[in-house]
Amino acid sequence: MADVSKVQDGAEKNVLSIALIGPHEQHRRAMAMAVAKHPGAIVHEFPSYSSAQEQLPRLLEDRYSVIIVDADSNPDSALDLAETVCTTSHTSVMAYSSQADVKLAIRFMRVGVREFFTLPVEGTEVAEALTRASTRQPGQQQGEYVPSKVLVFLGTKGGCGVTALASNFAVALAQESERSTLLIDLGLPLGDAAINLGMVTEFSIANAVREANRLDSNFLRTLLATHASGLSVLAAPSDFRAEATPDNESMNKLLAIARLNFEYVVVDVGSRLDLLGSSLFDESSIIYLVTQVGISELRNANRMISQFFPRRSDNLQIVLNRYKPATMLFDDKHIEKALTRQAQWKIPDDYQSARRTQNSATPMALADSPIAQAIRQMARTACGLPADREEKKRIFSFFR
Ligand SMILES: Nc1ncnc2c1ncn2[C@@H]1O[C@H](COP(=O)(O)OP(=O)(O)OP(=O)(O)O)[C@@H](O)[C@H]1O
Ligand SMILES: [Mg+2]
Repeated sequence: MADVSKVQDGAEKNVLSIALIGPHEQHRRAMAMAVAKHPGAIVHEFPSYSSAQEQLPRLLEDRYSVIIVDADSNPDSALDLAETVCTTSHTSVMAYSSQADVKLAIRFMRVGVREFFTLPVEGTEVAEALTRASTRQPGQQQGEYVPSKVLVFLGTKGGCGVTALASNFAVALAQESERSTLLIDLGLPLGDAAINLGMVTEFSIANAVREANRLDSNFLRTLLATHASGLSVLAAPSDFRAEATPDNESMNKLLAIARLNFEYVVVDVGSRLDLLGSSLFDESSIIYLVTQVGISELRNANRMISQFFPRRSDNLQIVLNRYKPATMLFDDKHIEKALTRQAQWKIPDDYQSARRTQNSATPMALADSPIAQAIRQMARTACGLPADREEKKRIFSFFR
């Protein structure tokens, strides 16, 4: 298998990075040999559609210039994959088949596939197609896929405020960034992110998990509800009977598809640790560890940081929720010692606003309150904007 790291650092000129996806080994090898005849071709082979589908965001982040897919082994999966790549990136997609089936070729061409090879294939035919692909991308041999950002809210203990913060942060992020933003509520069996936002939802993550085998971009869209702020929401089930807990595999697939369709994916994982092995907790994700300043919360925070996230730096953001210096048992020094580092965010304890927004079903982020201001700062920082809007500087200053 070729070393793709050479491609990523862009050190090599005239390199054409190619992902070759095909479960039929003999056919894939035949294509690999034909592709290798193109000067500068670096091939990375994927032996199954699912391995490629699950890693799609990473696959596109690796910026392959060309993706070549086996059309025979499972035409529907191959088409789905090809369509996803064609609609979400500028990567050239090609397909191959052992049959000269015009109808099959047309189906692939309709979703945006540029070249369709019939095996056995001539090396020159493939080389010419690859040359066309490289000239179609003047000055850049790599795709233009912009990796999405995953922002995971995790609590050190139930009731810490994960849902209140995740759902309001997501609203603020959608508004401040003006980018497509999705909130996924994993607060199973019953989550309340949608309720926090005053939304009534028809479908939930249970539908996505139960029918994980048919999950693709279109199916995901049918399960989402849209908040007035523009935020899309994949709610948690509102009924115990609907329980369907995602495992690492279904979570990886859901997240891969979500990342292809949204620039920001905010996830409320509550205080569950069973998905630590999933791609939710990849190095590229930002984890917001939400804790309160209580003995057991700080003890849990200490253990979680040292056991699960010891090497994370900026991609672990500690959030002290319900922070109220006057009534706390510990001062900032003790808190920092317990956390092994400084907390990045302090969200004030604001019972009145929390209560008011619950009663009026209006997100806290949309009100003008100290909580809303702090959450907005978090969201602006997450999307690369200055934390403070000019006109609000004075109001925020009491937390400095
Ligand atoms: N900063 C805050 N000030 C005042 N009240 C808050 C604050 N943050 C959260 N709350 C309130 O605390 C309660 C618990 O919050 P929330 O449901 O967000 O916690 P959670 O961590 O998601 O809980 P669970 O473990 O049940 O999922 C809610 O009533 C919420 O309104
Ligand atoms: Mg919750």
